[in-house]
Amino acid sequence: MPSLTVLDEQHAQEQPGTAPVLSVIIPCYNERPNVAPMIRKLDAALTGIAWEVIYVDDNSPDGTAEEVRRIARDNGRVRCIRRIGRRGLASAVIEGALSSSADYVAVIDGDLQHDETRLPLMLEALQAGAYDMAVGSRHVAGGDSAGLGGRWRHLLSDGGIRLARAFLPVPLSDPMSGFFMLPRPLFENLARGLNGQGFKILVDLVLSSPVKLRVLEVPARFRERTAGESKMDALVMIQFIGLLADKACGGVLPLRFFSFALVGGLGVFVHLAVLTLLRKTSPLSFEAGQMIATFVAMGFNFQLNNMITYRDHRLRGARLWRGLMLFVLVCGLGAVANVGIAQVLYEQNTAWTAAGAVGAVIGVVWNYAVSATLVWRTR
Ligand code: GDD
Ligand code: MN
Repeated sequence: MPSLTVLDEQHAQEQPGTAPVLSVIIPCYNERPNVAPMIRKLDAALTGIAWEVIYVDDNSPDGTAEEVRRIARDNGRVRCIRRIGRRGLASAVIEGALSSSADYVAVIDGDLQHDETRLPLMLEALQAGAYDMAVGSRHVAGGDSAGLGGRWRHLLSDGGIRLARAFLPVPLSDPMSGFFMLPRPLFENLARGLNGQGFKILVDLVLSSPVKLRVLEVPARFRERTAGESKMDALVMIQFIGLLADKACGGVLPLRFFSFALVGGLGVFVHLAVLTLLRKTSPLSFEAGQMIATFVAMGFNFQLNNMITYRDHRLRGARLWRGLMLFVLVCGLGAVANVGIAQVLYEQNTAWTAAGAVGAVIGVVWNYAVSATLVWRTR
């Protein structure tokens, strides 16, 4: 607990009823044991600054949101946004930052891995006006990434850094950092252009800016995680490649559609593989084999889309089964449309290849558009 004099000092610098100077945004998923220690650390680091912390929790099963609210009832600096049916670090950060009215927003992980004692320095530098953004970097003198678990994580992190640097207009020693600060109005200006997928919100921000941002790199240590576990996985890596591709094409690339179409393409292989297997090993008729192969391919496509294309709207439990049923229905109709339209075109003397291609494209666009709305409810 801060002493009475410290509290008085803080009150002297904060005018009652005004927005804080700094909002600290913490994306979190299953970080319950880290919440109370994190807020204590922020309290200690930010003495004399009018700050608030905004947790953005994706309905963690471990009760992270309840823990944040428990503390918030006694501490007016603490706020909680609880998102239901959504997942994603970057999109959580965006929502948290957009809920702020402070002069500056900082982003920091909720697992105690980032060095919160750097925050006052970052704030001072931004307030002085010479920089647009301050980034906690593990790769400048004085920083380190010791807490990055294992050789693989180091290798992947280094690879990601190289890749990101090839795209970035400003030289950043640690573009993969999840620890940074910028003026809130700047964040709001950039928000419209953000991709919001995956982990790499910093790369997203820098690439969204029409002008080169003046970035200050502050050396920061990356501590080891003591409670809970990392949510980084192979799919996060795929999303990172997708983010760079999206930015390279000026954001006009409908990434979700490409992912959906790619999965559909893989589904064709699955279909043919199952059909071949059945033809070779079972006495089933061609028609029966086709039916089975179709359903297996649909199930495969549904799973893969649920894991990759719609990772941020991933369905689980009962909603997974409801989604699968709807998906089969939607794709069934898509197939009818595909075959029907191709048939009409063919009868009107269109070449069979063109008729088939038009049918297939219409089928995939229908499947995509309708399943995005009905199955995964992205709109
Ligand atoms: N709301 C929400 N939703 N929060 C999430 C999600 C999610 O889907 N996934 C992860 N988080 C939260 C975690 O709870 C944690 O507070 C923070 O985001 C970072 O996640 P970790 O899973 O601990 O990531 P990491 O330690 O492997 O990597 C972090 O540090 C690296 C070094 O700075 C990330 O910040 C990376 O982006 C960064 O490169
Ligand atoms: Mn972490």
